Amino acid sequence: MAENWVRVAATGDVAAGSAMPVEVRGLSLAIYHLDDGRFFCTDNICTHAFALLTDGWLEGSVIECPLHAGQFDVCTGKGLCAPIEEDIKTFAVKVVGDDILVDLPG
Ligand code: FES
Repeated sequence: MAENWVRVAATGDVAAGSAMPVEVRGLSLAIYHLDDGRFFCTDNICTHAFALLTDGWLEGSVIECPLHAGQFDVCTGKGLCAPIEEDIKTFAVKVVGDDILVDLPG
């Protein structure tokens, strides 16, 4: 599938150790800025029920859902504990200058 890099935010918009919601092309995404400086992107809506992961807590590379405390590794999207049964979708991220770009489908 062709790459489709879309600018979603500036690097300065997301403090290290935090997550930020972005709405782009009808998708609800979470942008994560890890303490080590890396950026990642996942769907923002938890795979368990309806909650925004960006309302939860980022610890290292693990985001904890605010609703039932499910956890995902934001680097891989892997669900790490109950009640999560389905991994969360991830999107490739690259930083160009001060811009955060995400590879979006279509
Ligand atoms: S909605 Fe996220 S753990 Fe239940």
